Amino acid sequence: MSAARGALLTMQVVESLPTLREHVAGFRNEGARVAFVPTMGNLHAGHLALVEHARSLAERVVVSIYVNPTQFGANEDFGNYPRTLERDCQQLAKAGADLVYTPNDVTMYPLGIENATHVSVPGVSNRLEGKHRPGHFDGVATVVARLFLMVAPDVAVFGRKDYQQVAVIEHMVRDLSLPVAVQSAPTVREADGLAMSSRNQYLSESDRVTAPLLYREISRIATALEGGARDYKALRGEAVATLQDAGFLCDYVAIRNPDTLKKSKKDDTRWVVLAAALLGRARLIDNVSAG
Ligand code: PAF
Repeated sequence: MSAARGALLTMQVVESLPTLREHVAGFRNEGARVAFVPTMGNLHAGHLALVEHARSLAERVVVSIYVNPTQFGANEDFGNYPRTLERDCQQLAKAGADLVYTPNDVTMYPLGIENATHVSVPGVSNRLEGKHRPGHFDGVATVVARLFLMVAPDVAVFGRKDYQQVAVIEHMVRDLSLPVAVQSAPTVREADGLAMSSRNQYLSESDRVTAPLLYREISRIATALEGGARDYKALRGEAVATLQDAGFLCDYVAIRNPDTLKKSKKDDTRWVVLAAALLGRARLIDNVSAG
């Protein structure tokens, strides 16, 4: 039997919460640590890198696939979000996941979305992405809290591409004393620098050629900061102008404190440069750390 087929046979895909809990209890009985990678499916190499990272942290790896309705705005792509379960499971088996959890809406929100208990993280949720996607991080915190309670992992792994999402989840875990260690793994990029994202498939052929400019511009700002530049407004302004000239509609290019995501001060020595922009049908986000 090939290694890939063997992996497919050993990885379990479960939809019900009691079955998930039985499997996780089995892992615990073996004395295994459990690492968890929550996803919305439509997996790419960035997700598989998270699974690989998770495997380095624990003996057993659980991945969830759930397109969470509560984190999408009314005019966003919830209905069109690509759902590719079979291909995702094949990739996860090859990547060495042990268990894939694919809950449905009733399992995730048993009293219905209207009656759902929400988790809302103040402060960090309201900046940057939070301003442009009101309610997004409440949806993320709510579903991640639920998934943590269901899977009960030792450690959970998130991609650093969603920098602010990681900050929101870290805040939630600290504040609710959830017994989960949060780890983030580096952004995986295409050869030309474009951060991997499920939404890159919304790019037209010509927009795909333009798209890496977002990473180039925030990297240029990061290099300038490390070289001593401190005129944040000018740095941001130049990047926005370059991006708009190339056809992007910028939501923001921001230079922030990497811990609080508040605006950087002149005497700061560490920064994160974040950007979000629409290019054709695709809304791209990216970030680079500096200092
Ligand atoms: O990053 C994502 O894919 C989602 O926001 C997450 C963490 C799976 C919650 O739905």
